[in-house]
Amino acid sequence: MKTTTLQHKLWMSATGLFLCFFLVIHLLGNLQLFLPAAEAREKFSWYSHLLAGNIIIEIIAYVLYASIITHTVHAILITSKNTEANGSKYEYDKRGEASVWYSRNMGLLGTIIFLFLIIHFKDFWYQYKFTNLPLDAKGNKDLYTIVVKAYQQLWYVLIYEVALIALGFHLLHGFYSAARTLGLFHPKYVKWVKVLGWVYTTVVTLGFMAMPVYIYLNSLS
Ligand code: HEM
Repeated sequence: MKTTTLQHKLWMSATGLFLCFFLVIHLLGNLQLFLPAAEAREKFSWYSHLLAGNIIIEIIAYVLYASIITHTVHAILITSKNTEANGSKYEYDKRGEASVWYSRNMGLLGTIIFLFLIIHFKDFWYQYKFTNLPLDAKGNKDLYTIVVKAYQQLWYVLIYEVALIALGFHLLHGFYSAARTLGLFHPKYVKWVKVLGWVYTTVVTLGFMAMPVYIYLNSLS
């Protein structure tokens, strides 16, 4: 059976909203990085250890990885389908007259986020799960030091900031678009869903952007 554009969109919307939910949890957990260094080291590494040893969290993590893959695969399929149907994209694409630039460049923004995730997984997730990190005073893997060391490098902080700006614009359109595709609101409430999307995007994006900058500035003093 051939997958229709609507089916692709439904998959992308459902996985996209789940990823939005994950970002809130991830942001809340990472807020511990703002604690005074000694307390942050203990709590952040303890928290990561707690998550790693929990079977329910492990199942949710597999749903998370599957969501990232599903979201990406359907994005590629829908883009190639549109290109096939419209021929040369730029010649026929006149939507700029009615839409904002970031809603027309979701593929590009998504690609930047995907590249960011490869770096992010390699430097934090892989290090934590598959290498023998030094242990902290409580015997937990010292993930805090790995994160702090990474953000002590200005070039690395800049990579994060660029990727997080891309994430912000991606979320700004994605949140609203997903809610609309899934029919989660009555057209009467369009304005409020847009406001919610703006608030969500601003809090999540600025929250994540503040972390590398905070750690970098702290390392200078
Ligand atoms: C800039 C602030 C961020 C910091 C300090 C941070 C930190 C971390 C750390 C230390 C880990 C590995 C430990 C763990 O698995 O819990 C991790 C995992 C992860 N991060 Fe981030 N992260 C940030 C932003 C983001 C963003 C913006 C995204 C998504 C676009 C993201 C997606 C993920 C994913 C999917 C995982 C794997 C989670 C799992 O295996 O359960 N992170 N992050």
